Amino acid sequence: MKKYLISTFGCQMNEHDSEKIAWILEGMGHVSTDNREEADIIIFNTCAVRKSAEDRVFGQLGELKDLKRRKPELILGLCGCMMQREDIRTYFLSKHRHIDLVFGTNNIHKLPQLLQRHMETGEVIVDIIEDTREIEENIHANRKYSYKSFVNIMYGCNNFCTYCIVPYTRGREKSREPQDIINEITELTDNGTKEVTLLGQNVNSYGKTLEFEYNFTDLLRDINKIDGLERIRFMTSHPKDLSEDLIKAYGELDKLCPHLHLPVQSGSNKVLKSMNRKYTREDYLSQIRKVRAINPNIAITTDIIVGFPGESDEDFIDTLELVKEVGYDSAFTFLYSIREGTIAAKMEEQVPEETKHKRFQQLLDTLHPIGLELNERLIGTTQDVLVEEISKNDSTVLSGRASNSKLVHFKGSEDLIGKIVKVRINNVKTFTLEGNLINMEA
Ligand code: 5AD
Ligand code: SF4
Repeated sequence: MKKYLISTFGCQMNEHDSEKIAWILEGMGHVSTDNREEADIIIFNTCAVRKSAEDRVFGQLGELKDLKRRKPELILGLCGCMMQREDIRTYFLSKHRHIDLVFGTNNIHKLPQLLQRHMETGEVIVDIIEDTREIEENIHANRKYSYKSFVNIMYGCNNFCTYCIVPYTRGREKSREPQDIINEITELTDNGTKEVTLLGQNVNSYGKTLEFEYNFTDLLRDINKIDGLERIRFMTSHPKDLSEDLIKAYGELDKLCPHLHLPVQSGSNKVLKSMNRKYTREDYLSQIRKVRAINPNIAITTDIIVGFPGESDEDFIDTLELVKEVGYDSAFTFLYSIREGTIAAKMEEQVPEETKHKRFQQLLDTLHPIGLELNERLIGTTQDVLVEEISKNDSTVLSGRASNSKLVHFKGSEDLIGKIVKVRINNVKTFTLEGNLINMEA
């Protein structure tokens, strides 16, 4: 029996992969630890989407050199998106001689045999499957929470947005069989899950690789029928594939949460074209209008990249104008980061760092007051909140998510964790709501 520690970088897809890795390791009899010093196996589940994430992995790996020197039997593994890239793998293996094991995003299920091989031979084991051909259904996850769970519905991405490395790391798009997904969610629900988040790089194109006609909305309808399940969320949508049918589903499916994360990336048609996003700002705004016509209270969030190659002051102003026009509840904002191997990396008009940072701040200054104003409109409303944990700053305060995905703080006792309660909102901030518990369970 060994003690393991998994350090996860990046998105929810990676977080869920780490839950799968934990499940496999526990199945082998190992137990988790939070303490690096006492770990026998340390696994870094890496992210390649921006350089900053890569740099952090590189730095943290360096910090482990000393531990490995003191404790040579420590097994150090690297997996995740960065490892899918041969150039990065080679660089890491040459710079960090203390790595024992490298695997990828498509062969997590092989971990027991890879670990075994390493322990028997003492050799550095590198095992990568380039594509999503084999989806392994017999792998479960050691989920962090019992009441909310991630469920993969598809793997990979076919979109090749010109800035993005994901299609090169996660391979081609492939949907899981609907029945496998429904069985997984039914089992989770039987074991106490109230909320599922369906994961895919582009969930709106779910079903395209199936052998029969069945799309994302069909899947949502079937999941909505699962007894005991209370909330359905999904991540991430691509505006080009957001169907009328899906928009209508917001008005029909009682379990579908009133939140849509719809990454726009830029408000300039010139930049969108150069990003290969395959929609215009007008298309995007029209989608938003349709969504709001179904339910004006759907929270809308997005991803925005600042400083994409060729982005001029005018292009950036288009983004600011779009932000105001949509009125986002919140947004993930990113400085454009060059990813070698992508089309945008070779574009000539890279934006100077200083300009990127200036625009980034301007974007935040535009987004934050809008987010605050939208939150202020919720003062006096009652929100159903799935209670998640005790606040880190105050042990008498709980935090959870409203159905629109906003973080809510309120006073209450620990036994409410995992329950859906009603909270009357009486104060708000830019990123959070505060309120009072008004009864025990919704
Ligand atoms: N630089 C900056 N942001 C990026 N993203 C993806 N690739 C890059 C990049 N090279 C952002 C996009 C995407 C989110 C997950 O990460 O906004 O939606
Ligand atoms: Fe990257 Fe675009 Fe695919 Fe999203 S849709 S993972 S941004 S290539």
